[in-house]
Amino acid sequence: MSTSVQWTPTHGEPYRPVPYRPARMPAEESLARAAELRERMADRRTVRRFSADPVPERVVRDAIACAATAPSGAHQQPWTFVLVKDPEVRARIRAAAEEEERVSYAGRLGEEWLAALRPLGTDEVKPHLTDAPALIVVFQQRYWLGPDGERRKHYYVDESVGIAVGMLLSALHLSGLAALVHTPSPMRFLGEVLGRPVNEKAFAVIPVGYPADDCQVPDLVRKSLDQVLVEV
Ligand SMILES: Cc1cc2nc3c(=O)[nH]c(=O)nc-3n(C[C@H](O)[C@H](O)[C@H](O)COP(=O)(O)O)c2cc1C
Repeated sequence: MSTSVQWTPTHGEPYRPVPYRPARMPAEESLARAAELRERMADRRTVRRFSADPVPERVVRDAIACAATAPSGAHQQPWTFVLVKDPEVRARIRAAAEEEERVSYAGRLGEEWLAALRPLGTDEVKPHLTDAPALIVVFQQRYWLGPDGERRKHYYVDESVGIAVGMLLSALHLSGLAALVHTPSPMRFLGEVLGRPVNEKAFAVIPVGYPADDCQVPDLVRKSLDQVLVEV
């Protein structure tokens, strides 16, 4: 259930248990839902060419709200999702990203990394940064920054934000939208362009929309369950 109580840091507060008794789902319904989800998730693909058609902003906001329900180390919720709407800001992000990517693809990544990327068909041109109808930039809060500049350590930030982004991608996909996780390297320019505070570090840029009519994706094979599941 959602709550309208505003969150504030709970650092050092005592344990305050409340009952948690969600209705148990009958096994048959669980099985049916799991099988359907497995099929629907298998259809998710990273999209790099987007249609210009607008997406309902409410769907994007709801997906971000889903992501923000993610578990996090010590419940510190160390994430910020910036929904970039201003076309001028998006153009600046694209220009800065393509500048970094030009250097990366020209050799900074090294031959091993470039070889790993080759089957994906990516290059330094990033039209999705300006052309996808929605753009989310995810930041990790490396530490908590109080109003007086006080700092508190955040725990398991990478893991927490990674899980939240996974939930964001799932929510977008299951709501009918396509997305790309773009990680220009280095990403420092994102904090500067978006004016984020010093405790925030860019994690990923996520263009969102519908695939373009002529969208193509690399022919990739996923590991089978047998290859990823070890039962002990
Ligand atoms: C952490 C992470 C970083 C990624 N960075 C990029 C990127 O910078 N550019 C890009 O085109 N795709 C990027 N991707 C997308 C992957 O290439 C893609 O997920 C992978 O090739 C599998 O394809 P699929 O998502 O269609 O299954 C990234 C994915 C992840 C999870």
